[in-house]
Amino acid sequence: MTDSVPVLTIDGPSGSGKGTISRIVAGRLGWLYLDSGALYRAVGVAAGWADLDLDDAGALVRCTFDTDIGFRETEAGDLRVLVNGHDATDELRTETAGAAASAIAAIPEVRAALKDRQRAFRRAPGLVADGRDMGTVIFPDATFKVFLTASAEERAERRYKQLKDKGVSVTIDGLLREILARDARDASRAVAPLRPAPDAVHIDTTGLPIEDVVVRVLDIVTHPAG
Ligand code: DC
Repeated sequence: MTDSVPVLTIDGPSGSGKGTISRIVAGRLGWLYLDSGALYRAVGVAAGWADLDLDDAGALVRCTFDTDIGFRETEAGDLRVLVNGHDATDELRTETAGAAASAIAAIPEVRAALKDRQRAFRRAPGLVADGRDMGTVIFPDATFKVFLTASAEERAERRYKQLKDKGVSVTIDGLLREILARDARDASRAVAPLRPAPDAVHIDTTGLPIEDVVVRVLDIVTHPAG
């Protein structure tokens, strides 16, 4: 009876704070955490390793079925992602992997192939699922649904800080252009476009400290309306 396991879906565009907020909220609730974007990124990385053409939908669908994706938590509490047994966590976060994931995510058969893998994360005592279509397609019956947004400028700035801390040299303008292009692609694709579920609570995180957003999200779970 997995359907009785509570699910909190947190959807939104990249840079809206979904990943950070979802991880913290899952930790505080003691629930499992699904980073669904990591699945698309993992297929993107595997496709890169196999030198596949991002226009070859058939090859990418086969690659999705053939790619083994595992999650492992280190003793320090870091989540590592294993692609075909190799730790690909750092490679997954690159702009190249993100762009490949976004292209791959537009293929309906890829999305269908990843559906059951995502639903398998629904286990007691509960699941926090982060992505683009968690509340609309993967867990339409979720108990709690949140849609996070932030201005494109602030999202570019957050990404700039993250990359600068890692020593990667980029410009805010370049990142802003990439974010706007990715938003447009994710929102305009035919299958599971980025769109809030009608019953999702919207939170604009522009200018909000992380802890404020965490408190608001936890409040939705602990004091549900009606
Ligand atoms: O959240 P992210 O940046 O790691 O996601 C990478 C890409 O994967 C993103 O461009 C869109 C796609 N994605 C998706 O289509 N559906 C999801 N549930 C999660 C991610």
